[in-house]
Amino acid sequence: MQKIQILIIDLGSQYTLVIGRTLRELGFRSAIFSPVRAEKWLKNNNPKAIILSGGSFSVYQEGAPNPPQNILKLGVPILGVCYGMQWLSNKLGGEVAPHRENKEYGKAEVNFDTTDKLFHGVKKKNTVWASHGDSVTSVPKNFKIIAKSAGSETIAAMSDHKRNIWGVQFHPEVTHSIEGKKILINFIEKIAGCEKDWKPADMITEIRNEVSSAAKNKKAIIGFSGGVDSTTLSAVLAPVMGSNLFGICIDTGALRQNELSEIKENAKYAGVKLKIIKAGNIFQRSIGNNTHSELKRKKFKRTYGKILEKAAKDFKADFIVQGSLATDMIESGSAGKADLIKSHHNVGLNLKVKEIHPFRNLFKYEVRELARQLKLPDSVSERQPFPGPGLFIRIIGEPPKKYKLDIVRWADAEVTEILKKNKIYDDVSQLVVALDCNRTVGIKGDGRVYGYSIIVRGVKTADFMTAHGFQFPADVRKEISSVVTRHPKIIRVFFDETDKPPATTEME
Ligand code: XMP
Repeated sequence: MQKIQILIIDLGSQYTLVIGRTLRELGFRSAIFSPVRAEKWLKNNNPKAIILSGGSFSVYQEGAPNPPQNILKLGVPILGVCYGMQWLSNKLGGEVAPHRENKEYGKAEVNFDTTDKLFHGVKKKNTVWASHGDSVTSVPKNFKIIAKSAGSETIAAMSDHKRNIWGVQFHPEVTHSIEGKKILINFIEKIAGCEKDWKPADMITEIRNEVSSAAKNKKAIIGFSGGVDSTTLSAVLAPVMGSNLFGICIDTGALRQNELSEIKENAKYAGVKLKIIKAGNIFQRSIGNNTHSELKRKKFKRTYGKILEKAAKDFKADFIVQGSLATDMIESGSAGKADLIKSHHNVGLNLKVKEIHPFRNLFKYEVRELARQLKLPDSVSERQPFPGPGLFIRIIGEPPKKYKLDIVRWADAEVTEILKKNKIYDDVSQLVVALDCNRTVGIKGDGRVYGYSIIVRGVKTADFMTAHGFQFPADVRKEISSVVTRHPKIIRVFFDETDKPPATTEME
């Protein structure tokens, strides 16, 4: 499959994902990465265009995000949007003035220099959407001012054709920028020479061709969790691999209520045969009395890898198919900052059996689109993620023994039902229900109790690299607290609305 042509570096704007979505609407795939991940990705990829997003920082603030420095030496066309333009200006010797008290926010009238390639075919006098505190007051050497605000003469865009760099102070990705899409197309197609590549149906054919030539008459197993990635990948491959493909579901003993039957159902939708390996006791033994999140994760990962290897051997599989996405592939590369945060169970397993990763160039939003194309039900295409180590990493502060798994499993099912009943479940990208084993005092009946708490967390995100902590309505919170504390061991319910960063989605 063709590699991604457009890299969007996320510098913290609320509109970054809108850039990706708008580009898809225009027919282009893109990768959106934080500066750290972008740097890793650039080691093995050569994008044709780089877009620096906006962001809420001032370039002068401590901790202001910095795109990887080497992007300026690549010669790849760069478009800086808002903060992205200010960063470019500051880096290359222009001047950026803070106007914190005098923010420009909302619709703004601008005059474009339509002789510049970026503004070819758009009207000279135009309306754009701006949202910024600082602004570029003097462009770097060799740059040209190519747009100004109609009233204030504020510099609205700049370019240096020799260095292939453009900057716009406004947000072309937002629909209020009347000709924003035309400007993005000019950059992507005319300046950077990208070709349209967002064609989900073609992607399915490409993956099938690639795998059927590599795996002709060979046997393979796929780790089948029933999640959107493994279900969709199975559905893509089942027609070309037939009975040579076997889904392996490892029942870790830390699945949610009814999850096993959902997994079986999803395997049917995907058209793949499924073998369920009961391994709850093995995982319990392996995690033992560990309470440290990373230790639990490492033990889990090792056990998971061993079971998968044995399954491959039993099935005489020539290889293991993995549903790893582009984001996972970066994590499994050279160790970097992101790797140190937590060890994901299926990343960098280093199995003895050959692994193939047909989704290695895809992003979650693309996999969901493939699922829709394959007519898989919404329960698959829109399915919330659930971590491989499951409820083991949702028990905090004490060893995740079976009876604690039962408590958190019960609480998770109750909260899920309440959210579904109130039609809120689909508003969150992921629900996390965890058991906090720190004891607190409470009253049940007439007596003193000393028991656990439940933590309820919802996040809203498109890619889980960053996320907003969801605020459940007050009446729903009340209902959750009252239902969940009916459990004899649970005294309190806490709601966690922290964003990522600083928090992560999971508690551990
Ligand atoms: P964090 O907690 O890193 O989670 O913000 C981001 C997303 O990844 C999921 N997650 C995992 N998924 N194996 C998985 O398959 C893992 O070990 C793992 N750890 C976290 C998490 O649920 C969220 O969707």
